[in-house]
Amino acid sequence: MSALGPVLIIGCGDVGLRLARQLLASGRPVSALARSAERAQELREAGLQVVEGDLDAGDHPIEGLPSAGATVYYLAPPPGGGTVDTRLRVFLGSIEPGNEPAKVIYMSTTGVYGDCGGALIDETAEAKPTTARGQRRLDAENLLRQWGNLRKVAVVVLRVAGIYGPGKLPLNRLQEGQPVIDDPEAPQTNRIHVDDLVQVCLAAEEKGEDGDLFNVCDDEGGTMSAYFDAVADAFSLPRPARIPMDQARQILSPLMISYFSESRRLDNRRMHERLRVSLRYPRLAEGLAALVAETKENG
Ligand SMILES: NC(=O)c1ccc[n+]([C@@H]2O[C@H](COP(=O)([O-])OP(=O)(O)OC[C@H]3O[C@@H](n4cnc5c(N)ncnc54)[C@H](OP(=O)(O)O)[C@@H]3O)[C@@H](O)[C@H]2O)c1
Repeated sequence: MSALGPVLIIGCGDVGLRLARQLLASGRPVSALARSAERAQELREAGLQVVEGDLDAGDHPIEGLPSAGATVYYLAPPPGGGTVDTRLRVFLGSIEPGNEPAKVIYMSTTGVYGDCGGALIDETAEAKPTTARGQRRLDAENLLRQWGNLRKVAVVVLRVAGIYGPGKLPLNRLQEGQPVIDDPEAPQTNRIHVDDLVQVCLAAEEKGEDGDLFNVCDDEGGTMSAYFDAVADAFSLPRPARIPMDQARQILSPLMISYFSESRRLDNRRMHERLRVSLRYPRLAEGLAALVAETKENG
């Protein structure tokens, strides 16, 4: 790993900082873009070099990104509206000819597949996003691939399922007593523990090749409602009430309804076969048990 060169993280939030800590521990120089002075300070304290800039501040380029020859982990989400990723456009417009990275690992989502009626989906399935959120992601994937071809930069895309981990659990939602969708309408979903996602990111840099696309999830899917029940049980909270979809449409937010309206089961065989990751938490119960133990340890 240390033989690999410098790293630049665009969108250095929760996943990015976890990834950065591992890269720094293995001796890699890591830079990141930060859009607030507070985040810049946090990242500097963690040992990263920081360039301050906001991908939403107009379409002028961000100066001084140390991209030449680097591995770029692009983890910033698209903006909240529209059907295209204007943030990615600003980033790509900031890479002067001659400063191309060696490789870009792009963190996409499984939302690009849209609703698949609960079918098993591998990477050969057509991406047919059913929400504008999914369209922006697919726009980003396509744009990055085109740019990579033009500028001779290897691009690896990770289509990541729901991420769970410390601070990434629906505990507030459960405490508020918000309902979920009852069977048989409950959507099928997949998840990945954030620590395993970081492992996959590192493996994608090492083993992923230009044009590669990977579904990223653990080895156990299930319904969204079963997920909420499992989290409730693990954290000794009441299980949420289950209601039919028709009723949910009247009381849940449009965002929640859009999540509940997409059902698919992900095939992660390519991730295992090509990236050779050994998941620490192949099943949800194991990941949740570790999170409960961690919560108890931290008081
Ligand atoms: N949550 C899930 O279940 C899930 C599933 C699949 C994929 N993903 C995607 O995986 C990626 C990483 O997730 P995460 O949990 O690490 O997300 P996160 O903590 O929200 O990190 C995203 C980072 O992007 C930065 N960013 C956003 N807009 C920016 C802008 N205009 N200019 C510069 N930086 C900007 C944010 O900056 P600030 O720190 O200033 O906000 C933040 O540091 C995201 O793209 C996420 O959408 C998430």
